[in-house]
Amino acid sequence: MSARNNTCIVGLTWGDEAKGKIVDILSAEHDLCVRYNGGNNAGHTVAFEGETYKLHLVPSGLFHPNVTCVIGGGLVVDPKVLLEEIANYEGAATGLRGRLLVSSRAHTIWPWHKKLEALSEKYLGKGKIGTTLRGIGPAYGDKANRVTAIRMGRFLAPHDLEQAVRQIVETKNRIFTGVFGEEPLEADAVWDEYAAYGQQLAPMIADTTAYLHEALAAGKRILFEGAQGTLLDIDHGTYPYVTSSSASAAGVWPGTGVPAREIGRILGVVKAYTTRVGEGPFPTELTGDIGSQIREQGNEYGTTTGRPRRCGWLDTFAIRYAAQVNGLDDIVITLLDVLSGLPDLRICTGYRLDGRRLEAFPACPGALAEAEPLLEDMEPWSDDITGVRKFDDLPEAAKAYVNRVEELVGAPVRIISVGPDRQQTIFRE
Ligand code: GDP
Ligand code: IMO
Ligand code: MG
Repeated sequence: MSARNNTCIVGLTWGDEAKGKIVDILSAEHDLCVRYNGGNNAGHTVAFEGETYKLHLVPSGLFHPNVTCVIGGGLVVDPKVLLEEIANYEGAATGLRGRLLVSSRAHTIWPWHKKLEALSEKYLGKGKIGTTLRGIGPAYGDKANRVTAIRMGRFLAPHDLEQAVRQIVETKNRIFTGVFGEEPLEADAVWDEYAAYGQQLAPMIADTTAYLHEALAAGKRILFEGAQGTLLDIDHGTYPYVTSSSASAAGVWPGTGVPAREIGRILGVVKAYTTRVGEGPFPTELTGDIGSQIREQGNEYGTTTGRPRRCGWLDTFAIRYAAQVNGLDDIVITLLDVLSGLPDLRICTGYRLDGRRLEAFPACPGALAEAEPLLEDMEPWSDDITGVRKFDDLPEAAKAYVNRVEELVGAPVRIISVGPDRQQTIFRE
C-alpha cells in the first residue's frame, strides 16, 4: 500500500473553484471517489460529451464505471436529495446503485433542520450568514448536540428509529410553536415520508470506514473530494461566515476514518480570480464594472442556489494561508479563460491594516473586513484561450500570470482549466 496513490482535492477559497471538474478528470486514475464533508450545500459541476451534470451529494467520480463512490461519515445527507440525484444520474452513471456506498456514520437532514435554518436566517436579518438553506448548520448542530441527531445507520432499524423521530419532532415542535409562534411539524407525515426514503437507501448503507481500510490494504487508489473550500472551513475559515463542516483537507480523517498520513497528494483548486456567495468579508471584491464583467464571462451564478456570486481579484494572500493549513502539494487553476479580455488585471499579494502590512491572514472577521488588499498590476490578455491544450501555447501574459501565482503561493501549478469541459484542460506534469 502506498500513500502516494491517494489524492485529496480541496478548494482553497470560498467554494465553487471547479473541484467537480477536476475530481471527474482525476477519478479516471483512481478506484474510489470519496466525499468527506458537507452536504447538498455543495454544487459540483461535471461536463463532457456535450452534457453538463450538477452534483450535490454523489461524489463527482460517478461517471467512471470502475470507480466506487463513497459518501463518508463526515457528511450530512438529505435522503430525499440523495435519492433524487441517484434517479437523475443513474442513466449516465452506469451501475451507480451497485457502486455507491453511504456511511452508516453520516448524519441525516430532516424537515426540522431546514425549517429552523429558514427561521434563524430570517430573524437574523442583516446579521445572517447567507446560507444555502439546506439545513446544513442545524444538522451539524444536532450532531454536536448528540441527543437530537440521527445517523444514517439508524435507517437499518426502522422500528427504533420511528420512536426516536417522534420524540425529536416533539422537542423541535416546542421550539417552533413556543419560540417562533410557527405551526408544528406533523410527526406521522414526516415519518411516513422518511421511512420510505430509508427503505430505498438501506442497500447502500455500509460501514464505509471498514470498507475504505480494506481498499487501502488491497492497494486501491482513493480520491478524496472536498466540498466548499478552506476559507469556509468551520475551524480554519473566515468564521463565523463559514459552513459547519471541515472543508479543508483536515476533514478527510474525521470524515472518512482514513488517517491523514494515507493521503499522498493534496491538490488545491483555485479559480484564476476569487468568488464568494453569501455574506462575509471579501477583501478583493470588485463591486463595479470589472466585477460584473467577470460574473458574466464566468457565468458566476450559484450551482446550488442560483445566487449571483460576488467576484474579485485573485487573493494569493488568502490562498497562501489555505496552502499552509492544507499542507498543499500542487495548485490547480481553473477558469483562466474568463480573464481573457478584461481591461485590467490585478492580483492581491497581501493586506494592509492600520497602515501596516499584515504578516498573517486575519482570524477575526472585523480585521478581514477592514483589511485593504495590496494589488499588483499584471498584463492583461485578450486572446480566446479555450482551445489551448499546452502551457507553451498560452499567451505570454497568461503564462506570466500563472507563474506569478506559483511564486506568491509557493507551490507549483500542475493543472490549468480553460473551459468547463473535461477536454479543456492543460496538464503540466
Ligand atoms: P465546484 O463547486 O468547486 O465543483 O464548482 P462549481 O461547479 O460550483 O462551479 C464551477 C463552474 O465553472 C461550473 O459551472 C463549471 O462548469 C465551470 N467551469 C469549470 N471549469 C471551468 C473553466 O476552466 N472555464 C470556465 N469558463 N468554466 C469552468
Ligand atoms: P461547493 O462544494 C460556495 C456558503 C454559503 C454560505 C456559507 C454557509 O459547491 O464549493 P451553509 O448552507 O453551508 O450553511 O452556508 O457557505 N457555501 C458555499 N459557497 N460553494 C459551496 O459549495 C458552498 N457551500 C456553502 O453560500 O455563505
Ligand atoms: Mg459549487
